[in-house]
Amino acid sequence: MDKIIIEGGVPLNGEVTISGAKNAVLPILSACLLTGGWHTLDNIPRLKDIWTIKEILSNLGVVFEEDAQTLKVNSDNLNSHSAPYKLVKTMRASILVLGPLLARLRKAKISLPGGCAIGARPIDLHLKGLSAMGVDVNLEHGYVVASADRLRGADIFFDITTVTGTENLMMAAVKAEGETTINNAAKEPEVVDLANMLNGMGARIRGAGTDTITINGVKELHPVRHAIIPDRIEAGTFLIAAAITKGKARIKGCNVEHMEAVIKKLLETGMEIEKQGEDLVAMGHDKVKSVDIKTIPFPGFPTDMQAQLMALMCIADGWSMIRETVFENRFMHVSELRRMGADIETNGGQALVRGKGVLSGAQVMATDLRASASLVLAGLAAKGRTEISRVYHLDRGYQDLDLKLSRLGSKIWREKY
Ligand code: EPZ
Repeated sequence: MDKIIIEGGVPLNGEVTISGAKNAVLPILSACLLTGGWHTLDNIPRLKDIWTIKEILSNLGVVFEEDAQTLKVNSDNLNSHSAPYKLVKTMRASILVLGPLLARLRKAKISLPGGCAIGARPIDLHLKGLSAMGVDVNLEHGYVVASADRLRGADIFFDITTVTGTENLMMAAVKAEGETTINNAAKEPEVVDLANMLNGMGARIRGAGTDTITINGVKELHPVRHAIIPDRIEAGTFLIAAAITKGKARIKGCNVEHMEAVIKKLLETGMEIEKQGEDLVAMGHDKVKSVDIKTIPFPGFPTDMQAQLMALMCIADGWSMIRETVFENRFMHVSELRRMGADIETNGGQALVRGKGVLSGAQVMATDLRASASLVLAGLAAKGRTEISRVYHLDRGYQDLDLKLSRLGSKIWREKY
């Protein structure tokens, strides 16, 4: 296994280009199941989670051709409708093959994804929506076993806004008979990117990015060429890297519209952020002001940036209240930050951070994807050496984060252990 070593205290200086968005690629790759022919996807990041979804698709009969950041995908010859536990258990987003398999084959057998470090991660809303579309859904021996003679349009209301739930039902609905409406739909940019790709395939989807998405079923779809949007969470992570090291960085290839809540909140901490086209020029300040945040669905402050902002608040001047409303256990990074000298009290979904201006290097352990990023950021600011173990969590969602940071001047490298 790998560990990451950081000698903290070096201000960032330089530029970095953002990779494609993991949470857009996962549904978009799944959508390639909807029709035969060759799809071409550009700006694909090299991530563990992308490898996992490709394994699951290969297991279904999908074939790939890839060069650099472009991936060609062909699902002419699907020879299975089942996604096995051994693969699905490593990434719960594997449930995203359920909707397209039902649309294409009218049947699917997907291992229940199970929870993960940050929460139970149920899929009841996915299944309820599919049932409304005429799918017969059974849970058998840890698997979702679903089938339908035909999929029919339905009027669906999500009790809770769910990103992959919205994506799964959008994909199930594109070839259903009639019109499907998804109310209280997720508005995340990754949902919009998927809708744009599906419409490029000949689907008829309106309202993506709003609370209400309407899908009119079509008979035929065709393959498409589509470029993945940039990863707003990776970009936000680099903004905080500039702030926490009191350095500066040009973050290239962002979609600034996807980052308004994060940018506004980081400006409140006193850092400077200048928008220059698709680039963000970030400048950290000596004094970091403490701010309060509450994570909510897009366009609010994203839960996927909560752990990273907490690291910054540990070196701020004053108290910061962090409310995590999306997942029930997304403070796994707190105990590790405390090992680095952070003063954080948690109570349910709230964390009160007393910024002390400094952190000290320590041996810490990554527990989940965004917690890993939080520990890297804390290490960049800490006095002395930080060693982060179990960095496979980090590699699920960041392409070469340590390499990109070292090119920005950070003293960061990997070692086997
Ligand atoms: C997506 O997860 C992202 N993953 C997550 O990113 C992200 O944190 C999350 O959306 C919220 O923005 C991908 O897109 C692959 P949800 P998802 O369904 O779809 C509850 C990362 O770090 N819920 O929007 O699984 C659920 O428990 C990952 O990149 C139900 O109760 O999240 C949660 O409390 C982590 N029943 C809330 O809704 C359901 O059927 C939001 O979850 C579905 C969800």
